Amino acid sequence: MTNREHFGSRAAVIMAMAGSAIGLGNIWRFPYIVGEYGGAAFILIYIVCCFMLSLPILLSEAVIGRRTHQNTFGAMGTLAPGTGWKWLGLLTIVTPVIILSYYSVVGGWSLAFLFKALTLSFRPENAEAVTGMFSEFSSSAWGPIACTLTFLGLTAFIIFSGVKKGIERFSKISMPVLFVLILVIAAYSITLPGSSEGVRYLVRPDFSKLTGDAFSAALGQSFFSLSLGVGTMLIYSSYVRKEEDLIASGAGTAMFDMLFAILAGFAVMPAVFAAGIAPAAGPGLVFETLPFIFAKMGAGGRIISAVIAILFFLTILVAALTSSISMMEVGVAYMVEEKKVSRGKATLGIFAICLVIGVLCSLSFGPLAGFKLAGNTVFNFCDKLCSNYLMTLGALLFSIFVGWKMDKESVRDELTNGGLLKLNGKIFPVLYFLIKYVTPITIAAIFISGLIG
Ligand code: PFF
Repeated sequence: MTNREHFGSRAAVIMAMAGSAIGLGNIWRFPYIVGEYGGAAFILIYIVCCFMLSLPILLSEAVIGRRTHQNTFGAMGTLAPGTGWKWLGLLTIVTPVIILSYYSVVGGWSLAFLFKALTLSFRPENAEAVTGMFSEFSSSAWGPIACTLTFLGLTAFIIFSGVKKGIERFSKISMPVLFVLILVIAAYSITLPGSSEGVRYLVRPDFSKLTGDAFSAALGQSFFSLSLGVGTMLIYSSYVRKEEDLIASGAGTAMFDMLFAILAGFAVMPAVFAAGIAPAAGPGLVFETLPFIFAKMGAGGRIISAVIAILFFLTILVAALTSSISMMEVGVAYMVEEKKVSRGKATLGIFAICLVIGVLCSLSFGPLAGFKLAGNTVFNFCDKLCSNYLMTLGALLFSIFVGWKMDKESVRDELTNGGLLKLNGKIFPVLYFLIKYVTPITIAAIFISGLIG
């Protein structure tokens, strides 16, 4: 692995990891769940989940990646040769390919809606028709397929350009831009008349809503949001130099991800309440409710609302791209390092597989809506399979691997850079306890209770 690429700096590592983390999950799920489960009270348990359960898993992946400087499959082969752990390596190649396939459909929709915003389609005169635009578009065949293809093509182009020239450069430019964009949208949103109810929805602490459900929602959200159990954090860490501080990079990533999610809450919910609409999550929020709001607001300040609509869909597109590249890199690194194919061919191969699954996912909103897998459309099947099972399973196995299979001194060595990072040395016993006991037990409990019912 002598000529493997590396990220150039700590900032580059955090930008790339935060890029993977910050995505649709932050924009269309977090704001809604926060309101549903008790506002500020939920944010509190979310922060606890992030730092006590998710960060230890992120760091477990980071330890494996940086220790070996290899792809997920190769890393398992090096650390546990000749054992069944290679299946975990394979699992974390399959999962991101499936997620990327359906994520690209949504990425494609954001491309289409960016185009609609640019061509000023969200106008006050057709405010009523605007909410129907999404179902009309997504249930058609060719438009969404073309957009999925374009989104996957953009992802492939960045990945083909390499770790430094592709992933690092794109993340370093787009992450600061994303923060500026979401700040501008939030500033606009909270100044709308009637928006204060939306702010209250997000921050009013309601401890009575902190049930067991709220806890699993917090955990599920923080897993998906930090892209855990999929191998993306492992592969990015495999490009981190030996002298970087893994704990600082992981904590920085978790903090940026959380900050962006909270800002997204302030960008979305005040506008939703200002327009007098019931809050929702998922595609309906981003592609129906918000375009309707942009159209309605147009009456007050046409140019401003048109600009905000453009900025909003640009934000979604860029956030989705910084996540999608991390998913594609897992499979590409595997093909290049294990199957010895060129980066170009590997990228093309993963692109083609994702395109086939992506087309099926896209058609499941229209012509293939009646085709069901285990009672779900192809899109929903892929989503449920990954977010409810494969990601959780991957995360569980990563923490078991680092806590129980790897030798403790190697883990300490990796997280403290051979003892050089004194503060990390002090944190290590707590972190190791979390990795070894707290995370696997909690995840297993939630995973099993989910399986049972
Ligand atoms: N973290 C991304 C989001 O919040 O949208 C989703 C994601 C990215 C999941 C990368 C999995 C992954 F490998």
